[in-house]
Amino acid sequence: MHLMTNRLTLCRPDDWHLHLRDGAMLAAVAPHSARLGRAIIMPNLVPPVVTGADAAAYRDRIRAALPAGAPLQPLMTLYLTETTDPADVVASHRDGIIAAVKLYPAGATTNSASGVRDFDRVRPVFEAMAAAGIPLCVHGEVTDPEVDIFDREAVFIDRVLDPIRRATPGLRVVMEHVTTREGVDYVRANDAIGATITTHHLVINRNAILAGGIRPHYYCLPVAKRETHRLALRAAATSGDPRFFSGTDSAPHPDRAKESACGCAGCFTAPNWLPIVAQVFEEEAALDRLEQFVSLNGATFYGYPANEDRITLVRRADPAGAPAEIRADQDRVTVFDPGFPLHWHVEDPA
Ligand code: DOR
Ligand code: ZN
Repeated sequence: MHLMTNRLTLCRPDDWHLHLRDGAMLAAVAPHSARLGRAIIMPNLVPPVVTGADAAAYRDRIRAALPAGAPLQPLMTLYLTETTDPADVVASHRDGIIAAVKLYPAGATTNSASGVRDFDRVRPVFEAMAAAGIPLCVHGEVTDPEVDIFDREAVFIDRVLDPIRRATPGLRVVMEHVTTREGVDYVRANDAIGATITTHHLVINRNAILAGGIRPHYYCLPVAKRETHRLALRAAATSGDPRFFSGTDSAPHPDRAKESACGCAGCFTAPNWLPIVAQVFEEEAALDRLEQFVSLNGATFYGYPANEDRITLVRRADPAGAPAEIRADQDRVTVFDPGFPLHWHVEDPA
């Protein structure tokens, strides 16, 4: 990376956790992620992407929704269920159809009803994945109604994640959208584990959702925690530690589904995530480590080379950023508002 005042050139960024949805929503949001190099595509459609054949068909729908010549290479994942066939997982990975498998505890989040209830039932899948070197992406929250929602990530580490990792040596795990100091500490203390950190969790704490009125566009899962946790995430992201990398978890929903008595979880950050992350790194005096977080660490974890082409970020006085909302058919989809002006403009020669 080349750093001059107000100008940064970096390898084309990737997104290691992205929701592109399907149908009209896919058509509306795909252009906003088209300038990425690669993205790990989440499989929580209705119905979910459970087999290699499902993943190949979804990949083709994504490609069809991208503008011609878009650099984005979608890296597909399978949605792990208690009836997932280990042989299908291994064959799909060997054939280059999937890059990873996603574990959702049943009921943990949006469209997770077909997720895993009994983790012992998926042991054979974990073992086959460890043997074949296939990463497991984990939504790390328990769903036990007795556990406070703000504690669900920390409890998951003790009750579920650590036992799985001990029982399956060599299994490569990504703790998706880590939101707590406990999560950061667990990743730092262990091998064969990485973590994505979202854009929004670097910016908001739980006050943004609840103080002075309830703000559904800041509600996501895992829910944003108190300020000490946000600071731990910022320290991890900007540390240069290769185990932490950017996964936006950009998760579009129609406004009518979020602005509701039971609003759904997800922040739509695809249109403005990079100017926001650049601003965070600037505030942390860590612009020299931005490329590691957005372009290098994730690729290394997943075993890909860095993207060969480059983009430039230019800091200018005029505001950078995105529209406040986009349309998907008749629906409005609100873009994440970081609450501060953005000044890093993305220049993409491709
Ligand atoms: O906020 C979230 N939205 N968290 C998730 O885990 C799922 C995602 C979605 O699909 O909407
Ligand atoms: Zn997600």
